[in-house]
Amino acid sequence: MRNSRRGMVDPFIVMDVMEAARQAEADGRHIIHMEVGQPGTAAPEGARRKLSEDMQSDAMGYTVALGIPELRARISKLYGEWYNVDLDPARVIVTPGSSGAFLLAFTALFNAGDKVAIGAPGYPSYRQILKALSLEPVDLQTSDANRLQPVPSDFAEMDVQGLMVASPANPTGTMLDKPAMSALIEACAAKGAAFISDEIYHGIEYEAKAVTALEITDECYVINSFSKYFSMTGWRVGWMVVPEDHVRMIERLAQNMFICAPHASQTVALAAMDCHEELQANMEVYKTNRNLMIEGLPKAGFTRFAPPDGAFYFYVDVRQFTNDSRAFAREILDEAGVAVTPGLDFDPVRGAGTLRFSYARSSADIAEGLERLKRFMVKRGFA
Ligand SMILES: Cc1ncc(COP(=O)(O)O)c(C=O)c1O
Repeated sequence: MRNSRRGMVDPFIVMDVMEAARQAEADGRHIIHMEVGQPGTAAPEGARRKLSEDMQSDAMGYTVALGIPELRARISKLYGEWYNVDLDPARVIVTPGSSGAFLLAFTALFNAGDKVAIGAPGYPSYRQILKALSLEPVDLQTSDANRLQPVPSDFAEMDVQGLMVASPANPTGTMLDKPAMSALIEACAAKGAAFISDEIYHGIEYEAKAVTALEITDECYVINSFSKYFSMTGWRVGWMVVPEDHVRMIERLAQNMFICAPHASQTVALAAMDCHEELQANMEVYKTNRNLMIEGLPKAGFTRFAPPDGAFYFYVDVRQFTNDSRAFAREILDEAGVAVTPGLDFDPVRGAGTLRFSYARSSADIAEGLERLKRFMVKRGFA
């Protein structure tokens, strides 16, 4: 059977690492998971309880395409609580995860062949989704001096129709402060390019609150999700905020592409937003784990990293040990029983010399993972 060219996207390497780890576990090995970018915790208990009650009386059929109105209103309230931003609920669209929001945003904003700038290193699926929609991702080689975030001079001379940023970012955990984000927004406006802000790690911050693009402008797309802070990866529910005059177009696309985000997941999401204690308890675990990593990585010989501002990753320069991060990650899995992600997932060029370590799991797992990494690196003569 024939295939399309645009369907020829690269694999998401971390998913391949997860599969290799699963196989090792099926063979009876005990693996510490520092590859997956997801909380080890379930959706808040209070929210799951609410769903089981609602399921007794509600058929959980389709919802309206833009999402359950109460959920859209509760999300708009969150912008008041977190950033003091007054947001019209009519601009909030509930989506099947932020991944569903990317499809809607890229389809609504760009024509086939348009170029969209993304920072490298960055979340790999931006590049692949753009390609699958016949759009052209343009990697911006970010610098250590800018904490691996894009700056206007990276794309000033380029003919691009959009810029996608993430703050806190995956894989680095670095954030854009208000002046840095404002400069990017202005640079986009000057060349008529769309500005898209992936804010999926908001809520998981350590030193300062993350800035939403909506504090700066209404002329942007903001994408967020219940996957990370709200600990709901598998429920597949997220949201997007768009300018008022884009809502109807997104609604038409959402009706046709998805009909709606899963009804049960929207119910859980709404209740999860008020489960403050449980969510805060998860944050305490991330804080503890971040400290364990700051202490433990150097003891294992991994010294070249910047502590993350947010999210739950360390992006480590390992060029002194390897020029093939994929093979190195495989050796760490096989010999140390720790699954980690090769940087090639995030930066097809420089990622051959980097690894991403996730610390989203339990503190006991992270401590054990760090011990195993130390033993592996000592055996190699690297620590
Ligand atoms: C930066 C970033 N954006 C988006 C996603 C996708 O998340 P979702 O589960 O909301 O589709 C991820 C997942 O790891 C991510 O790291």
